[in-house]
Amino acid sequence: MQPLPADPGLRDLVRYATLAANGHNSQPWRFRAHQEDIVVLPDHARRTPIVDPDDHHLYASLGCAAENLTLAARARGLSGEVRFTPEGHGRVDMRPSARGETDLFAAIPARQCSRVAYDGRSVPAGVMRRLAAAAASYGVEGLFVTDDKQMEAMLALVIDGNSRQFDDPAFVAELRNWVRFNPDEAAAARDGVYAASSGNPTIPTWVGRRFFDWLLDKDAENEKYATQIRSSAGIVVFVAARNDREGWFNAGRAYQRFALQATVDGLKHAFLNQPVEVPAVRPALQSLLGIGDRRPNLVVRFGYGPVMPKSLRRSVDAVIV
Ligand SMILES: Cc1cc2nc3c(=O)[nH]c(=O)nc-3n(C[C@H](O)[C@H](O)[C@H](O)COP(=O)(O)O)c2cc1C
Repeated sequence: MQPLPADPGLRDLVRYATLAANGHNSQPWRFRAHQEDIVVLPDHARRTPIVDPDDHHLYASLGCAAENLTLAARARGLSGEVRFTPEGHGRVDMRPSARGETDLFAAIPARQCSRVAYDGRSVPAGVMRRLAAAAASYGVEGLFVTDDKQMEAMLALVIDGNSRQFDDPAFVAELRNWVRFNPDEAAAARDGVYAASSGNPTIPTWVGRRFFDWLLDKDAENEKYATQIRSSAGIVVFVAARNDREGWFNAGRAYQRFALQATVDGLKHAFLNQPVEVPAVRPALQSLLGIGDRRPNLVVRFGYGPVMPKSLRRSVDAVIV
């Protein structure tokens, strides 16, 4: 990837923003330049209404993109200050300011979700402190789970949520639309979840579309989650101060900082959002974390693992309006 120029234009900055994590890689964002800021807007045509009926993940994804934009702006002497507007837009200030290039900025192109088993190593205390500091941003709490008993309790919730999702034909149909089954399909769409980046075999598109439900094996997937969680060093749950679009946006920003810090420290990570996505499972997660009726936003495991094929992004021209 081209490095960010010393005097970046809109397209350069937006390219960095679009490398952010986002639900199903639907890239539900658009970017608009104004005199003094770049606005991150939702693209409602790219909603995922079954897994995300209230747009929680959509606004978290906008927060992830806004955080990358902030880091890129600061690295090039622009303010990067973010304001969440009442219409649900993130306005990122692009006025000149002190330059603050950070190692988080440098990690933007390398960050990725690695949905595979890790090597079981634990994370040294110094690294854990940096991860905790990155997660605790914008009023968001990062609740870390690292002991075996609690990790097993988290695994039980992931399996419960995953089983319910796999038993729901609407969930499976929506997921099928966002899976890219082979390199040609991934390269043509430049969005969606590429099978190979999840460690799955690639297959012809027509086979994937027609036999997806049949290929999806709930028990095998649940076993994979058990291996993946048991080989991880820990799990972090992000809990925003407010349960509204701004809180969800901030949860996304805090996740993005955590993920970039993890990347800097040589760690991999992947989401385990089933317990926050399935309303019937959420109360058990709230009670496990002792957070009362506060809404847990995002669940992420982390540890040491391999580099995977990258998920692609659409061109910046497709997202600038
Ligand atoms: C709000 C949000 C929710 C997500 N939920 C899940 C999830 O439940 N399971 C999963 O495997 N990945 C999840 N992801 C990760 C995305 O699928 C991933 O970011 C996207 O495919 C792009 O890949 P990359 O992060 O490797 O660049 C989520 C990401 C965000 C921001």
